[in-house]
Amino acid sequence: YVVHEGCDHIFFVGFLGAGKSTLARNLGALFHRPHVDTDRLVERALGRSVSEIFAQDGEEAFRDAETRELARLATKKSLLVSCGGGIVERPENCELMHEMGVVVFLDGDLEDSLRQIRCPERRPDLGSAEHAAEVYRRRRPLYEGAADLTVDIRNKSFEQVASESG
Ligand code: S3P
Repeated sequence: YVVHEGCDHIFFVGFLGAGKSTLARNLGALFHRPHVDTDRLVERALGRSVSEIFAQDGEEAFRDAETRELARLATKKSLLVSCGGGIVERPENCELMHEMGVVVFLDGDLEDSLRQIRCPERRPDLGSAEHAAEVYRRRRPLYEGAADLTVDIRNKSFEQVASESG
């Protein structure tokens, strides 16, 4: 383990639509800590949207950029980081997160996630609801394995989740 002394980040992981960005942003406001989102960092770095990157360059190129932007956070301090839903797909990303801080898994229902993203068809990188369900099943153990803290977000208000995550 190389521990990046003093990064002191909190990483929020979970399936897309779990509310990672909303929670991290609101916690940031509450505790006066800056919030960053790995998808936004990738979009800024590549100058295109996540869906354009997936469509034009493919998932591997997106994942490479995601890892690069994650690693760049080693030079920052005390961030709340909402992570793209697939960040746990790469073990090196989990190692990086543990080197830089703690990982909080926002554990919600697939159904809630699908409702949040309305319909998965709008997420070209996820295809059908059946594919989303298969990805969800494959990823759950990855989220659980990466988590220092798991917060069950089913049927909970922001305040309840915040008090269990902060
Ligand atoms: C992805 C989730 C997205 C984004 C990309 C890939 C995934 O982030 O990183 O579409 O593979 O689950 P959100 O979880 O913030 O939607």
